Amino acid sequence: MKNFEFYNPTRIVFGSGKVAELSRLVPADARVLVLYGGASAQKTGTLDEVKAALGDRAVLEFGGIEANPTYETLMRAVAQVRQEKIDFLLAVGGGSVIDGTKFVAAAANFDGEPWDILLKGGSQVTQALPFGTVLTLPATGSEMNSGAVVTRKATRTKLPFMSALVFPQFSVLDPTKTYTLPPQQIANGIVDAFVHTLEQYLTYPVQGLAQDRFAEGLLQTLVEIAPKALAEIPDYDSRANLMWSASLALNGLIGAGVPQDWATHMIGHELTALYGIDHARTLAIVLPPLLNVQRETKRAKLLQYAERVWAITDGSDAQRIDQVIERTRQFFESLGIKTRLSDYGLGPDAVDAVVAQLEAHDMTRLGEHQDVSPAVSRAILMAAL
Ligand code: NZQ
Ligand code: ZN
Repeated sequence: MKNFEFYNPTRIVFGSGKVAELSRLVPADARVLVLYGGASAQKTGTLDEVKAALGDRAVLEFGGIEANPTYETLMRAVAQVRQEKIDFLLAVGGGSVIDGTKFVAAAANFDGEPWDILLKGGSQVTQALPFGTVLTLPATGSEMNSGAVVTRKATRTKLPFMSALVFPQFSVLDPTKTYTLPPQQIANGIVDAFVHTLEQYLTYPVQGLAQDRFAEGLLQTLVEIAPKALAEIPDYDSRANLMWSASLALNGLIGAGVPQDWATHMIGHELTALYGIDHARTLAIVLPPLLNVQRETKRAKLLQYAERVWAITDGSDAQRIDQVIERTRQFFESLGIKTRLSDYGLGPDAVDAVVAQLEAHDMTRLGEHQDVSPAVSRAILMAAL
C-alpha cells in the first residue's frame, strides 16, 4: 500500500426530512447566501423548505448556476458575496451548484485573479468562506470532497481545483430530494459514481485489500440498485443507497493509499467543454475504449474486476478482459446512456478538437502511469467513434 494522509471533515446528515436540521447546522448569526441552479430548487419546493429552516437569519439568494458551472456566472456571485458581506454559503443542488459554491467560497477573499485558482489547481488557496450543502442529485461526490470543476465559457476551458479548505462543513443528504429527478439524471448519477470508483480501483494492485473490497462493494451495489433506482415510482431504499454510494465513491476513502487514474475524466471534461455532453455521458463514451487501449497495464485489475464484480471466470485472460469491457459498456447502455461519439453526432473532427484541447490544457501525461499521451488519447477517442 502507498503512504497516504486521509482527512475528511464533512458532517453528513442523512435521511428523509433532514433539511429542517439546517436550523441547527448553520450558525445562528450567519449572513447566508443560498446558491442554486436553474428552476428545479424552486419548482420542487426545496428552496422554500431551506428558507423556512433558516428562520430569521439574514438570507440572500443567488440563482442561475448552470450545469457545468461557469466562471462568468460564479464571478457575479463573488461580487454579491463581497458587496453584501456574506459570511456563510449554502449550496442547494447537484454537483454543479456545489462545485460553483466551492469556487465562490475560495474566490470571495482571494488575493488576485480568481481564475488562477483553476490554472494552478487550487494550490494557492489560503482561505475560503465556510459553506454547507443540500444535495439534490447523487452523482459527483462533491458534497463530501474538496474538489470542484469550473468552466470558462469564453475559452471553453473546463478545469478542476482541489483544496482542503473547500470541504463542505456539512451536507444534508435526503434521498427523497431525488424523487423529482428525470431518469436521465439518475442514470448519469449511477454512471458517474461507478466511474469514480473505477478511476481509483482499476489501475494496478498495491495490496490495498480493504480499498479494493470497498470499491468492489460500491460497484456491486450500484449494479444491484440500478433497475429500482430508475423505476418510475421512486423507491426510497434504492435512492438512499445511490446517494450514499455516490458520496462514498469520491470522499477520499477508497482512493487512500492506492494509485488513481482519472484519464477518463480529463478527456471527458474536454468533451463537455466543447460539445456540452453531460459529464457522466462523456465518461460512458471514454471509459470502455480506454480500458481496451490500456488493457496490458491494467491487466491484473481488469481480471480481478471481471471475477469479483461480474463473476466472469471462463475463458482466457484476453477473453475475460474482452468480456468485462463489453459488460461495462452494456451496463451503461442498460441505463439508457449511449456510449459512442457517433451517438452524439460526433465524428473524427471531434477527436482532433479534443486532442488539441488536451494539449492546450497540459493534459498530456494522464493516467496512473502518466502514459496517456495525446497519441494515446487519440487512439482512445478514435475507438470511441
Ligand atoms: O439547474 P437546475 O434547474 O437545478 O437543474 C439541475 C440540472 O439541470 C437538475 N437537478 C438537480 N437536482 C434536481 C434536478 N432536477 C430535478 N430534481 C432535482 N432534485 O439536474 C441537472 C444537472 O445538475 P448538475 O448539478 O449539473 O449535475 P451533476 O450533479 O451531475 O454535476 C455535474 C458537474 O459536477 C462536476 C462535473 O464536471 C459537472 O460540472 N464534477 C464534480 C466533481 C467533484 N466536485 O468532485 C467530480 C465529478 O467527476 C465531476 O467532474
Ligand atoms: Zn465524475
